[in-house]
Amino acid sequence: MSAPPSQTNLVEGTAVFPIGSRVNDRGHLEVGGCDVVELASEYGTPAYIYAEDDVRARARAYLDALRARTDDFEVLFASKAAPFTAAYALCSEEGLSVDVASGGELYMALRGGFDPERIYLHGNNKTEADLAAAIEAGVGHVIVDSFDEIARLDSMLDRPQEVLIRVTPGIKADTHSYIQTGQLDSKFGFGLEDGLAARAIDEVRASRHLRLVGLHAHIGSQIFGLEPYTHAIEALAGLAGDDCRILNVGGGLGIAYLAADEPPSIDAYVGVKVEGVRRVFDPVPRILIEPGRSLFGNAGITAYRVGTVKEIPGVRTYVAVDGGMSDNLRPMLYGARYEAIVADRAADAPDAPATVAGMHCESGDILVRDALLAAPRPGDVLVTPATGAYGYGLASNYNGLTRPPVIFCRDGDARVVVRRETHEDLVARDVS
Ligand code: LLP
Repeated sequence: MSAPPSQTNLVEGTAVFPIGSRVNDRGHLEVGGCDVVELASEYGTPAYIYAEDDVRARARAYLDALRARTDDFEVLFASKAAPFTAAYALCSEEGLSVDVASGGELYMALRGGFDPERIYLHGNNKTEADLAAAIEAGVGHVIVDSFDEIARLDSMLDRPQEVLIRVTPGIKADTHSYIQTGQLDSKFGFGLEDGLAARAIDEVRASRHLRLVGLHAHIGSQIFGLEPYTHAIEALAGLAGDDCRILNVGGGLGIAYLAADEPPSIDAYVGVKVEGVRRVFDPVPRILIEPGRSLFGNAGITAYRVGTVKEIPGVRTYVAVDGGMSDNLRPMLYGARYEAIVADRAADAPDAPATVAGMHCESGDILVRDALLAAPRPGDVLVTPATGAYGYGLASNYNGLTRPPVIFCRDGDARVVVRRETHEDLVARDVS
């Protein structure tokens, strides 16, 4: 059997790690110019670590790809992917708009510096409080999602409000069923086939205060095949007529979680969406694209400390780290797979089969099944890459774990943008 390639290849030769990651002279993993082993000592573990320039590069790649094809567009940060102030601030600085899915995300977007005009409020069951907050803030657009909401929002307004209608175009994307959203049988939006989208358009037109300016469709997430987007766009053509000045074609571009994953480029993905719109819409509306995962996912890693290595002879070796399902629920929720490396020996060949387990009281708390690691031992810093999207947002305090800090790295400088929770935080809301 030939020796497995060194971990350097995974770090420097694949799309999994943040742009610019490398193995430094000490044989340690380096992200954003910072030695991850040193970061782990200084800031503790687990920690979410981002290469800030990576996110900025991807934001610019989206803007450039659109600018090259149309002069009327917006790129929306789908903020559920990385809902913390520094992420909102970065995206607003880069000139993006933002998708918020609740009053809480709206609050964070405003705090992160977004002009309310550039905020789009989504959600299949926005509460009255969410809608009231959006009205109060002067949010540019609300994406209406149900007949109840059309009536509710209209009754709450005493001025015009621009809205888009969320349409489920009847397209099933090839991804995990929990993150498919474009099919007819969905809790989101108005179906096309059943005529509900057309009825929603009539109801919005007949409302007192709602101004229909466009349509929205998001068919799902972590998608590699681009054809479903074309079909979804074709399905929307002709639906709204002259009212359709804005077409939000959603997010969904998949990322590389594993070394072998080869997602389409941002440019190719944007190209398919824009060409799809140009082909079937005349006049061509303003095009909105709403990425989350593909902005932040590969920009972030999680650093853990190995606590125990348990070898069960003839069965498997469990390498247990100081986090798990409380900081990355994706393996448990979607069966998502990840790479793992030992950051202290990032140049070494990973030749020890191991299963990376979390520290929670659940047998299902497994972060990476059947990994190959470079001689893992207690005290090592173990890293899972591609955890920059939906890890932080889905995190919990299960088993009394404190949620990790978020650290932004750039040109060798690190800054904490979200601090680690404390034990006091765990009881801060308890009233007796
Ligand atoms: N627009 C809307 C209306 C969405 O619901 C979503 C994601 C996006 C845009 C952004 O999609 P993206 O570009 O990130 O694929 N927790 C799951 C993902 C749930 C996605 C929810 N909606 C995961 O960790 O895979």
